[in-house]
Amino acid sequence: MTSSTRPAISQEQGAASSTILATGHVRGSRVVSNQEMCTMIDSTPEWIEQRTGITSRRWATAEETPRSMAAEAGRRALTKLDLTGDQVDAVICATVSHHRPSPSLAAYVAHDLGAFSAAAFDVNAACAGFCYSLTLADSLIRSGAATRVLVIGVEKLSEMINLADRGTAFLFSDGAGAAVVGPSSTVGVGPAVWGTASDKVETIEIEDWTEVASHPELNHPLIAMDGRAVYKWAMTTVTAKASEAIARAGISPADLDVFIPHQANDRITDALVRHLKLPDSVTVCRDIADMGNTSAASIPIAIDRMLDRGEIHSGDLALIIGFGAGLVFAGQVIVIP
Ligand code: UT7
Repeated sequence: MTSSTRPAISQEQGAASSTILATGHVRGSRVVSNQEMCTMIDSTPEWIEQRTGITSRRWATAEETPRSMAAEAGRRALTKLDLTGDQVDAVICATVSHHRPSPSLAAYVAHDLGAFSAAAFDVNAACAGFCYSLTLADSLIRSGAATRVLVIGVEKLSEMINLADRGTAFLFSDGAGAAVVGPSSTVGVGPAVWGTASDKVETIEIEDWTEVASHPELNHPLIAMDGRAVYKWAMTTVTAKASEAIARAGISPADLDVFIPHQANDRITDALVRHLKLPDSVTVCRDIADMGNTSAASIPIAIDRMLDRGEIHSGDLALIIGFGAGLVFAGQVIVIP
């Protein structure tokens, strides 16, 4: 067959835009106060609260696994839409807490939700994982590769805390947040600003399993982070990228109703608000206070909890931005479901 007689393959197109249709979340059931944290590390409840805004965090029990928390958060989001798992075309799990190289956590969650023929895969983009995955979901829907996508950020970081490192141990927490993303006639997920500062790839790392194998006293790989370096980078790069996400959405900071950055540290949130010159009319997410840092899960958990508490409303314009190990970042303006 010559190139002139070979038939051209056809391409498909999906919806013009996508939007988040509903969210759901689950938190680890054990409340760990700063007081209790300070029985494990050399610190004070006041130091932790002043430096981070955290007063307590949630740790999952042995029965609460990344798989069970992800499936439950997904189920809660689907139930709000009267949908079942078989009505989802793709399941994406954003996580660094799934310790089995294969199959993916998303494949297990798809099974548990009855999404038996959905595409399923994991995204490892650390604390930017939800925003990375939302970017993919939006692209899948607009390309026609999927109609409904279930995006779940889930972490069980309590297993990977290094209690010998008092500079980071108090930060981390467990939970899952889910978003059902579907087609929309108006733009509900704005242009993504995403990337990696790969020259800083060693700033936050989780050990690999070969290191664990050579230290039998460890059950899990541990998190190591140069917190001060992340903090400084967030002030410059993350601020600039957040501004870019607002501009690329064609709006100005004053048009935003709410700002939901990755819940890493309230002082980082404060500095971002200052640098972005967000007006007082913008509601600022402070979910970290009784939740701690749940990496890929922090933004979807925060969205769902802020809706539950009546702090935000359907139709609000929100800037979300995640940043973490890589060092990766991703942010976009979204419409609250
Ligand atoms: O989610 C992924 C992205 N991660 C982040 O965005 C984390 C960003 N970084 C941070 O949130 C902050 O850097 C931390 C909360 C992790 C640490 O706060 P910091 O203000 O940067 O503290 P530091 O590590 O610079 O330490 C300041 C001082 C040190 O004492 P000296 O050397 O000044 O005498 C530390 O030894 O605070 C001391 N310190 C503590 N003191 C009491 C460190 N940890 C503790 C502690 N309790 N737990």
